[in-house]
Amino acid sequence: MAVSPHRRILVTAALPYANGHIHLGHLVEYVQTDIFVRFQRLRGHECIYLCADDTHGTAIMIRARAEGRGEREVIAEMRAAHLADFAGFHVGFDHYGSTDSAANRRLCGEIWRSLRDRGLVVNREVQQLFDPKAGVFLADRFVRGTCPRCHAADQYGDACEKCGATYSPADLVDPVSTLSGATPEVRSADHLFVQLEPLQGFLREWTQTSGSLAPQVANYLAGNFLGEPLRDWDVSRPAPYFGFEIPDAPGHFWYVWFDAPVGYIAATEEWAAARGGTWRAWWQRGGANAPPAEIHHFIGKDITYFHTLFWPAMLETAGLTLPTKVRIHGFLTVNGEKMSKARGTFVLARTYLEHLDPAALRYYYAAKLSGDIDDIDLNLDDFAAKVNSDLVGKVVNLASRTARWLEGTGLAATYPDDGGLFARAAADGDGIAAAYEDCDFARATRLIMAAADRANAYVDAEQPWKLAKAGPDSAARLRDVATVAVNLFRQIVVYLAPVLPTLAAETGDLVGGPIRSWDESREPIVGLPVAPFKPLAARVDPARIAALVEAAKPSPPVAAPTPPAPPSTGAAPMMSDPAEPLAAEPLAAQCTIDDFAKVDLRVARILAAEEVPEAKKLLRLTVSLGGEERRTVFAGIKGFHDPAALVGRLVVVVANLAPRQMKFGLSEGMVVAASGAGATGVYLLSPDSGALPGMRLH
Ligand code: 2FM
Ligand code: ZN
Repeated sequence: MAVSPHRRILVTAALPYANGHIHLGHLVEYVQTDIFVRFQRLRGHECIYLCADDTHGTAIMIRARAEGRGEREVIAEMRAAHLADFAGFHVGFDHYGSTDSAANRRLCGEIWRSLRDRGLVVNREVQQLFDPKAGVFLADRFVRGTCPRCHAADQYGDACEKCGATYSPADLVDPVSTLSGATPEVRSADHLFVQLEPLQGFLREWTQTSGSLAPQVANYLAGNFLGEPLRDWDVSRPAPYFGFEIPDAPGHFWYVWFDAPVGYIAATEEWAAARGGTWRAWWQRGGANAPPAEIHHFIGKDITYFHTLFWPAMLETAGLTLPTKVRIHGFLTVNGEKMSKARGTFVLARTYLEHLDPAALRYYYAAKLSGDIDDIDLNLDDFAAKVNSDLVGKVVNLASRTARWLEGTGLAATYPDDGGLFARAAADGDGIAAAYEDCDFARATRLIMAAADRANAYVDAEQPWKLAKAGPDSAARLRDVATVAVNLFRQIVVYLAPVLPTLAAETGDLVGGPIRSWDESREPIVGLPVAPFKPLAARVDPARIAALVEAAKPSPPVAAPTPPAPPSTGAAPMMSDPAEPLAAEPLAAQCTIDDFAKVDLRVARILAAEEVPEAKKLLRLTVSLGGEERRTVFAGIKGFHDPAALVGRLVVVVANLAPRQMKFGLSEGMVVAASGAGATGVYLLSPDSGALPGMRLH
């Protein structure tokens, strides 16, 4: 089968939130998508891979507040971290944008206008939960309480994990704000809604007959949403909200889920503009674009209805191209369970990279991903066994035990008789390609490993190491056998190139030059030089996995005895902290644990912060120790912290310090901060997220 005619394919992965780091769960999707994109390019299609940070919403606003910084500072820092993580896993975006961009604001405005023009936007007063302590309306995810339907405790504000009910946070029984622990108040606010019911006919048609969705997903939508009138979609949030203010509704901001998918188009616009092109060549329906572009969205199953109902509704109204495919994957479990910090299985991308080879995880994920919606499991023992057996034992081993015989001579001038092995694997190419196209990478890797098994059986039978010992009479035969083995190896690497771009590049260096096309799997290469063999893959050492799991566990409490340092893996980055602070302020005399216990350090939330006009350095802080416990504390941090930005932030206070009468009032404690040699600032300490006011430091 010849490769189908040239296609133009725009591929997106879900935009990660800018308020958290990339972890192994996220990477399932970015790696899956990257493999698909690399496959399409290898097949000669034009394929662009776009992504961006998803920057808006309450979570980022609260995080920025808690850190005493502006939202845009937090976003910039997280963007750099995300980009480093993706690069570390060889996830190669063509463009990585941000939903907080000028392009996105403009495009949101365009789509908004088309919704208005179709008369789909309505105003309605809603009852929303408001956190009186933090001073913000609460997003659904920041409220927990008892499910109004099945009475399961500790459920989110929008849906129950136990019975699947969806509801509004105001319906929760005994709601609690996860931001401050306060009981939220119901307040009414004006919201803007997009009516979806007028689009029911379109959505039914598109979800059920376009072929864009797997049948399972189409059935889920038909069964859960499309059978009854579609509820209006609440797309605005009142101030304060970090996002784009709606141009024709001052004081109202687009809800993060309105502007997030528009970020796909904004990223296209930025990418296209840098090349003198336009986003319309990809998203405008019909017109002169030839061939028309395909749009493939890769997402996790938790955000299905945003991408299969709301987003198509927006695109349809704006007259833009609908997704060709929405490809939905399941979640990642580790060792059969939900990822867990305590078990050391909630692993950040960067922690993984400090211990193990990204290629190993890319291969393992590929071997597990079958293109359906089922969860996939990263079993750490199986991970080591599979990578060692397949990549090292089957694939790289083919080259490591044969390439060196060709170093001086290069490949034979004509391809020897190999009993039909190369031709057989070449014939498998269409089946492997079809598996990649379906995102059934598990099937692709099975077919590829079967070819590797046949190639290894050939080498085992021919025993080139014996031919090498047999002297000059066997030299020609040795060269032929090695030529066959190296060709079968390279053919396998062509098939694996979407999964393992580094192995593909290194194989190109070894023999035959860069792998650029799937068609290189169709014909053997001959007469070319072979470079000295360099190791192409390392075994996964179970000790490194154990070290990774340890590193991913939360650090022990500060006062616990320090455990002995783990043996160096040789891979940890070198940290070189300056010696000045300790030299300038040597450690105080030793104290006992009883001495320490006298100092009662507590987590506290800053409720109010104001300057003391008469004092050069002081801010007057009102802090909460939980419940009704309040303290007034004068802190010498004026000039280093913007008082407004401190409100809501968690800090550490010495809660049992004897009150001290100062010129400006009574100080009832002390906020803990770091300062010292070489430092121009005063650095407040913050606990990890999850800590609550009143918790004691041990
Ligand atoms: O669920 C999430 O992580 C979202 N940040 C995904 C957004 S995808 C797109 F719509 F922007
Ligand atoms: Zn329930």
